[in-house]
Amino acid sequence: MAKRKSPEDLRSFRWFGAKDLRSFGHRSRLFQMGYDQREIAGKPVIAIINTWSDINPCHAHLRARAEEVKRGVWQAGGFPVELPAMSLAETYVKPTTMLYRNFLAMEVEELIRSHPVDGVVLLAGCDKTTPATIMGAIQVDLPTIFVPAGPMLRGNYRGQALGSGSDVWKYWADKEAGLISELQWNEMERGIARSFGTCMTMGTASTMTALAETLGLCLPGASTIPAADAGHSRMAALSGARVVDMVFEDLKPSDMLTAKAFENALVVHMAMAGSTNAMIHLIAMARRCGVPLILDDFDRMSENVPVLCNIRPTGAFLMEDFHYAGGLLALWKRLQPLLHLEERNVIGTIGEAITHAEVHLPEVIRPLDNPVAPRGGTAILKGNLAPDGCVMKPAAADPALLKHRGPALVFDDYDSMMRAVNDEDLDVTADTVLILRNAGPVGGPGMPEWGMLPIPKKLLRKGVRDMVRISDARMSGTSYGACILHVAPEAYVGGPLAAVNNGDIVSLDVAKRSINLEVDPAEIELRLAAWQPPARDYSRGYLKMHAEHIQQAPDGCDFTFLQSPHKLPEPEIH
Ligand code: FES
Ligand code: MG
Repeated sequence: MAKRKSPEDLRSFRWFGAKDLRSFGHRSRLFQMGYDQREIAGKPVIAIINTWSDINPCHAHLRARAEEVKRGVWQAGGFPVELPAMSLAETYVKPTTMLYRNFLAMEVEELIRSHPVDGVVLLAGCDKTTPATIMGAIQVDLPTIFVPAGPMLRGNYRGQALGSGSDVWKYWADKEAGLISELQWNEMERGIARSFGTCMTMGTASTMTALAETLGLCLPGASTIPAADAGHSRMAALSGARVVDMVFEDLKPSDMLTAKAFENALVVHMAMAGSTNAMIHLIAMARRCGVPLILDDFDRMSENVPVLCNIRPTGAFLMEDFHYAGGLLALWKRLQPLLHLEERNVIGTIGEAITHAEVHLPEVIRPLDNPVAPRGGTAILKGNLAPDGCVMKPAAADPALLKHRGPALVFDDYDSMMRAVNDEDLDVTADTVLILRNAGPVGGPGMPEWGMLPIPKKLLRKGVRDMVRISDARMSGTSYGACILHVAPEAYVGGPLAAVNNGDIVSLDVAKRSINLEVDPAEIELRLAAWQPPARDYSRGYLKMHAEHIQQAPDGCDFTFLQSPHKLPEPEIH
């Protein structure tokens, strides 16, 4: 390892250390806040990027955690400063937080770059906040630790465990079919989210925080600690202490985020049957590191890695069980033959982190020779309906639908779809292929999580619980079913999904990785030439910038002008 940095080498020294007029101003303003020279002199400044807000239930504890991080920073000889960033509460931000992932990434990058900062602690976890804060931090490449918000406690309904998202969809279908009373439904509403913390199924939050840890950015074992567990506070304080040393060691994200680290992330993603959203985020994160990850890499990995995590929506258990079973480190232990163990994390290597790891509940973290599913965490399909690819989670779908031919029923927008599904006269059977379009990165805008199209009510009553559904949208990582997502290019920009008419035959063969519209190519071309996307107003502000620069899903939905490993120069200090 290179020689330890001295206080004069610190980035913040440029603000505080010089003997000039500007540094007089910088120091006097610290004194204005009540700090004494002894408390700050020569200490690394640690930015705590906090995505807390009053309307983000997943991050409600991050105010307290920020204080705990500060405790660790002070103890280790650093100077902590909390910098609030956009909170992006998945539940409340409309039409979707995905519209703002790159916005938060830009905010984090510029917060770090513009301030006198030597090291960074990222406090995030609710879906997009993990990739967003990491993407921002990657770009400045100062020593950084990610503190995952942690999953909330298991839901409880009359003694049964309830899982975020997954069980809502499941019981909603039962309610629509008349199997559940209003009273029972109200009880579930009060029982499903019992503490602060992120969704406790293997949704996007749990997937992305586990991947952040696998990429090396967390203290080992951090990502599965339940948010309400005292261990979570201890992890926050230890992270604060550790980042101070990382500053002196100059251990940066670029030392960890190598091509092999991303391969490790793909292995873990498959073994967890992680969220489909993670594919977009991992591609975006990798490309910012100069690692040319593509969709086909996921497919290749999916063939070789069995699903080991028995967690909803694919399996039976919840994140709390995963933690008690040994957590992510125990999963790494199972996956040992498939991982690059020499890859770095914030404190050592992946291999060192699993020295003492053990699986305590083998039903929750299955062994390689008795997996939840032998393969198929995710699959990439291509064909004339999705020339640039689309994704699905075969392990979370009805196996009977993995090879299917059926007539299309197309919706051009979310509202008309929602009206139709309750229509008793709707021309639909269990074989129909439901399609939603104009819900992609540009058309959505932001690819809302509409991809688990609702099953028409009249079919629900007949007991139908899964159908083939195709869209250019995303779906929640907590969702399940034969949902084919991220169709690229999206309909709004003239992708072939725009050419489908009601009644056209769509065929799907997951084993062959194909998805096709059985219509004459010349006819498809004619229809596309006549296609007019629905009107959208993107005439000003962020929406204009978004529509002009957002990439399609296979490229990670980053902005064209952000997707580069190029590091901008340090700001001038005058
Ligand atoms: Fe925040 Fe699911 S809503 S993690
Ligand atoms: Mg989600």
